[in-house]
Formats: sequence, structure tokens, C-alpha cells
Amino acid sequence: MAMAMAKNVSRGNLGLGARLMSTSGWWKTVEPAPKDPILGVTEAYLADTHPGKINVGVGAYRDDNGKPVVLQCVREAECRVAGKEFMEYLPMGGSAKMVEESLKLAYGENAEVLKDKRVAAVQALSGTGACRLFAEFQKRFRPESQIYIPVPTWANHHNIWRDAQVPQRTFHYYQPETRGLDFAAFMDDVKNAPNGSFFLLHACAHNPTGVDPTEEQWKELSYQFKVKNHFPFFDMAYQGFASGDTERDAKAIRIFLEDGHQIACAQSFAKNMGLYGQRVGCLSVVCDDASQAVAVKSQLQLIARPMYSNPPVHGALLVSTILSDPDLKSLWHKEVKVMADRIIGMREALRGNLEKLGSALSWKHVTEQIGMFCYSGMTPEQVDRLTSEFHIYLTRNGRIREVNCKVKKGVIKFKGEMGSSWSSEGAIGDAGHGMSIEVVRLALETSLGDGVSDGDATIGGDELIDGDGVIGED
Ligand SMILES: Cc1ncc(COP(=O)(O)O)c(C=O)c1O
Repeated sequence: MAMAMAKNVSRGNLGLGARLMSTSGWWKTVEPAPKDPILGVTEAYLADTHPGKINVGVGAYRDDNGKPVVLQCVREAECRVAGKEFMEYLPMGGSAKMVEESLKLAYGENAEVLKDKRVAAVQALSGTGACRLFAEFQKRFRPESQIYIPVPTWANHHNIWRDAQVPQRTFHYYQPETRGLDFAAFMDDVKNAPNGSFFLLHACAHNPTGVDPTEEQWKELSYQFKVKNHFPFFDMAYQGFASGDTERDAKAIRIFLEDGHQIACAQSFAKNMGLYGQRVGCLSVVCDDASQAVAVKSQLQLIARPMYSNPPVHGALLVSTILSDPDLKSLWHKEVKVMADRIIGMREALRGNLEKLGSALSWKHVTEQIGMFCYSGMTPEQVDRLTSEFHIYLTRNGRIREVNCKVKKGVIKFKGEMGSSWSSEGAIGDAGHGMSIEVVRLALETSLGDGVSDGDATIGGDELIDGDGVIGED
């Protein structure tokens, strides 16, 4: 009897299930989303079965073997916090200690605005989250405003301000002919924008071009921003990663502060502390006075609350532990410098290799640009060809992450084996600004460090795979 009832119940449930199943088709209008231009590169790379494939699109620092790096200061901080902390929620604004230390890093240990408590700041979900919070704040409190974004920029900037429904305008930044800054056009755009416009500025190591204004140019910009009463929003995703010196990389911010601008700043600890997946960042907004800062902070928290309630605790704990301990902080400064210097060294070696290989093109820009990326100047079509014919993966804007570059015996061997093919092919770009695809291939192959001993490039392999699948990058 009991069994019969159970059968009926389960049949009844099945019947209900079948009826529920019949109301299908909820999402039939949903099309696959377009691939992210940066993350899509990794997907394509992983799907390629060619043994010689190379991924230079990844926007994360790698060691000589193409492996992710965890800084010693981070390991030490992990040991110090392990087992000692609770896992309680952080407040909506995140870790007060982490925020305080982040502000000192961005604004300067003795910044007047910090002494006056004029800075509203919250912990954010890394640099992306900080930008997103600000875009939302801008929309809410300056609904009539637009955002001026450099051309080019990190692709996600467009998504962020689009989703916050802030209209976007662009300003001139990069000049393909010189592969440098188009300062005159940049200044013209600043002058011609309506008074009180919002501008997104990369504080240092502009992504993807690696082209930054000089100190003098920042001063001129700051002056012009004052004249026009523009709002400077600084995205600082690479403090310390550009020059190796966190103070030097904050120079643009300091210049604007000195001139009395009320800036906002998005900070990320993804690259400079290697905390990519921990999602630690900070958003700060300079206000008129302390009471306005309290109000602005409360509104930032109100935006965060329905989105993610409060930020994650572990990464923030690592950052505050490192920045508040003099020994760990000094170790961190050393490690940041090692990473930055290594990247600068790779740039020199890449340029040197290209010149040694007999390229007639100018490679000055490789060493003049700064930061993790080399904006090669390749066209999307050249990139497509690199990928389809040579299994070299990078974003279609020609951005290459610096890879280790040593001049080895192999270079000669490469040249001997393949020299005729690249030299006869010549430059395939426009007006001499393109590069020989074979030169790039050789440069990249010979820049792979110890793993390379013959014509088959061996880098890549599983550099982006971990136990759980794909490691992301930006
Ligand atoms: C210019 C710029 N801003 C922000 C970010 C955001 O990085 P994350 O959210 O990992 O801190 C990046 C990452 O590549 C970037 O290049």
C-alpha cells in the first residue's frame, strides 16, 4: 500500500515535470554573444592542435617558461594570514585598511587630500569593478554627462561605460605613423570638448599602446583640463609595472592633484601584485570636503550593495598585509621593479633581435613604449595571417605581450634556415609601417628563451591551463 502510494506520488511528480517541460523556449531569441576580442584569443589558441603554436596575446605576466608568477611578498603575506583570520563579510565598502593603504599608494603618503579626509573610497572588484562602479556613479549623479575615451583603449572600457548607459565619445591618442602619442590632436580634442566633460585617462602604461604622455605633456593636459573644467578619471591598472617605481608611475595623478583637480581613480592590484584572480582594487573620488566625501562614499556603497553586496576578503587582506608592513612593502617594491625591468629588457632584446635579423623597418617604438604590451603596428589582416599560417596568437589590434627574448645560437640557426624566406617576403604592411610576418615569427620564436633550440617554436603548450581549465587574462 505504502509502495503503491509512493509510486503514485512519483508518477504525479513526473506528470508535473512533463507539464513543466512543455513550457520551453524561454531563451529561443538568445544568440551566442560575440567573442571577447581579448579572451577569444586564448580560446582559439587552446583549440589549435599545432605543436608550435604561440600565444602572445595573454595580458598577464609570465616567467621565462611561460608560467604564471606568484610574488614572494604575496606568499609571505599568505603565510601570515593563514588560519588567523575569520571569513566574515567585509563592510559594503570593503577593507578600510586596504583602502587606506591603496590611497596612500596612489595619492602619496602625505597627500593633502588624504589629510583633509576629502577622498571617498571603496574596495572594488579589481580595476574592472572600480571602473564599473564609477561609470554607474557618473550615470546616477551626472546623468547628462558623456565619457571621452582614448583611441585605442583597453576594449573593456567601452563595455563598461556602455552597460552603465553613459554615452561615449572618443579622443585622439595614438598616432600610427609615429607609433607614438598624437599629442596635438589629443590637446585639440580636450580643447574642443564641451566644458565639464569626463575624460578617461590611463595613468601609466597605456593599454594597448604602451604610449604615455611625458611629464611635461601631463602638465599641459592638466592645465587645459583646468581651463575647460573637465573631469579626469584615471584608470591606474599598472602602477609600478611601467617604470618599476610606484611613485614615478603615479606622476600623472600627482600633477593633477597639485593643480587642484578633483580626480577619480580606479586602482588594480591584478598586475603589480600578481593578484589577478583575487579581484582586489580600489575606487576613489576626490571631493570638496570631508562631509561630501562621506556622502559620496555612502552612495558608492549603495551602488555596490545590490550588485555584489560586499567585496571578497582574502585578496584585500593580502594587499593590506603587504602595504602596511615595511619589510613586505619593500620586498614588493623590489619584486615590482624586477618585473618591470625584465619587461624593459625584453623590449630591448626584441628590438635587438629584429635589427640583427636584418629588418629594414624601424623598431624604435618597441623600446619607446612602456609596460607589458608591445603595440606592434600590425594590421588585423597581418595578425590573421600570423595566426592562420604561423599559429601565433594575439589580439587583432597587433598587441603583443612581451615575451622573453635572448640572443642565442638559435638565432643564427633560424636565420640560416629561414633567412631567405623572410628576406624575400619583405614588409607586407602599408607605407613601410607593416612588418614582415617572417621577421615577426623569427623574432617571437627566437624570443622564447631556453625552450627554443631549433626551428620549431616550443613555447605555449599549457601555459594557460591549470587543473580547472583555462586561466583567463586581459
Ligand atoms: C587599462 C586597464 N584597466 C583596467 C584593467 C582591469 O584589470 P583587472 O580588472 O584585472 O584589475 C586592465 C586589465 O587588463 C587594463 O589594462
